[in-house]
Amino acid sequence: MSTPLRTVLALETSCDECSCAVVQDSAEGFVRVLSNAVYSQIELHQPFGGVVPEIASRNHLDMINPIIQSGLSESGLGWADLDAIAVTNRPGLIGALLVGVSAAKALAYTLQKPLLAVDHLQGHLHSLFIKPQRQCDLHWATHAPLVVCLVSGGHTQLYFVEGPSPAQARWVKLSESRDDAAGEAFDKCAKLMGLPYPGGKHIERLAQGGRADAFPFPRPLPGDTLEFSFSGLKTAMLNTLTKQGYKPHVFGDLNPQSLPQGHVLHDLCASLQEAIVDTLVSRVVRASQQKGARAVALVGGVSANGRLRLKLSQALGPGVEILAPDAAYCTDNGAMIGAAALYQWRRGEILTGQTLLTLNAYSSSAE
Ligand code: KG4
Ligand code: ZN
Repeated sequence: MSTPLRTVLALETSCDECSCAVVQDSAEGFVRVLSNAVYSQIELHQPFGGVVPEIASRNHLDMINPIIQSGLSESGLGWADLDAIAVTNRPGLIGALLVGVSAAKALAYTLQKPLLAVDHLQGHLHSLFIKPQRQCDLHWATHAPLVVCLVSGGHTQLYFVEGPSPAQARWVKLSESRDDAAGEAFDKCAKLMGLPYPGGKHIERLAQGGRADAFPFPRPLPGDTLEFSFSGLKTAMLNTLTKQGYKPHVFGDLNPQSLPQGHVLHDLCASLQEAIVDTLVSRVVRASQQKGARAVALVGGVSANGRLRLKLSQALGPGVEILAPDAAYCTDNGAMIGAAALYQWRRGEILTGQTLLTLNAYSSSAE
């Protein structure tokens, strides 16, 4: 028996992106994106070197209605065509999450549609199920079972995914970071070097032409663990800069004279990137060998990193394909929240009627 195709409007406001997407089930069990409107607050937070929670929530308040209008009109659909509303309700900045949750509750209640509460991490993971992707689509018959590495600014986790079809995929969490996320290590070290927020893409750009073995940044947790640890890299960067005679940038105005420039900056970026990439690659390869994976997928903002993709493909060899969603679905977006919501709906995890008004926002996944 075939289930009717469902259309969901999804909101994402957990951090510094305000997004509204309209997505639809496909007959094969994948997800079609009809629209994916995203407003990024990055420029607002840049002067502070990181996301300021109060600025984030205030800006979400200004942007939520216009972004909902864009998401709906770009989809070509009207309110009556929607079957449900979805929203990220954890983990994230509580004030930012509350804006999306309140808007979603108001929409679902007034339109009398069900509400789906989505974990942001499930959103990143389900970005893999969006089709078509420009570069590499997930083909269940040839790629499953697969290992998925979620690498974002807030999380670093490994999952094993198996099952008879995408609609019946079973996710098992294999490991995560004991402390900082890989993206956090990029961002915090970038800030110490005086680079703009978010630092990952600037470090990748400056690493080109730098020597990856110029500075010995640590590769923590040796041995055959699948766990990650990145918090030591901040201290290592701080000590390296100080030892080289620079004044690491912690807060206040930038003083370019006291910060690394030229080839030293290139070498620092290349060496730091190599340490983070080596740690990620060793765990992903180990997990894929242990689990007999036929493909490996990278999801989350750090998966945009070219050095990570290159070193991973070299380490995995030709037998295991690397999948990564298009850039638009790697960084925070509403489409991935809608994708996770469609899978949740299949499992019956929906809120209806008066109960949907009790939905709350939570800063962590565990609450
Ligand atoms: O998934 P995402 O948009 O937001 C979170 O849910 O955290 O990921 C943002 C993270 C930031 O830490 C950013 O520095 C990192 O992704 N990032 C990169 C690159 N592009 C974004 N890290 C390394 N290389 C890149 N090219
Ligand atoms: Zn994210």
